[in-house]
Amino acid sequence: MNNSAIGVFDSGVGGLTCVKELRRLLPNENIVYLGDTARVPYGTRSKETIARYTKEDMEFLRSHDVKMILVACGTASSVIMSDPEFRDHSTGPAYSGVVLPAAHAACAATRNNKIGVIATGATIKSGSYGKVIRSINHNMRVVGKACPMFVPLVENGYTDKDCPPTRYFAEEYLECMKQEGVDTLILGCTHYPHLAELISDIMGSGVTLISSSAELAKLALKDLTFADELSDRQEPGSLELYCTDSTELFSENVERFLGSGINAKIEKCSLKIKS
Ligand code: DGL
Repeated sequence: MNNSAIGVFDSGVGGLTCVKELRRLLPNENIVYLGDTARVPYGTRSKETIARYTKEDMEFLRSHDVKMILVACGTASSVIMSDPEFRDHSTGPAYSGVVLPAAHAACAATRNNKIGVIATGATIKSGSYGKVIRSINHNMRVVGKACPMFVPLVENGYTDKDCPPTRYFAEEYLECMKQEGVDTLILGCTHYPHLAELISDIMGSGVTLISSSAELAKLALKDLTFADELSDRQEPGSLELYCTDSTELFSENVERFLGSGINAKIEKCSLKIKS
């Protein structure tokens, strides 16, 4: 048993899709969330910069004495996989990103061994999903596509399946997935579950969508259960949300991602910046 909080971070508000799933699966756990809203987006930056930001985000969560760290950001998860500095899991709380659980879920779901991945430019460029999926089954065909317009569209609330600009970009981005005949599509970015209805409408009901955020939440449940580190709290867990820019903007998006009436502490914080 361990009553410390679960730490979750993302480049911005998108990681709240993971928090939503965590609260559904683990309602009695306390959660501390950090959204690095002052420096979002990560997906257009170099891997050195993303790695530096990620270290600072993790440092912040460690200072809150969390029992595990969930890297909800697809971009940060991809970059840390190939960075040797993140290989040492011996000190501090364990951390997990979205790539491994989403890749495993996709491999289990595909029937024709053709998996699509949509994500930020940095995630696609890292090749993270292809590497993991092919290590599970080297016969898999993996098709990646960066969808840079999706994050700003979701952040601004253009998520409706019939919203013309969003549909325009979605059709453009997903054309290659249709041509390749993928039967499983990984939503490899925190924001994309908000476009699931539209994406499903374009891809057709025969294509399974895998939410990387939801898969990470399921992994947290599994890991905490196996490590015997679930909380024994009887009442609902608390939710502390930190952002690095204005709380006003952040709160609006919190409502959009988690729904209204969420009982959460929302605070602006500053990160320890290492030069
Ligand atoms: N959170 C990022 C991700 O999941 C999307 C936003 C960004 O580019 O920072 O990849």
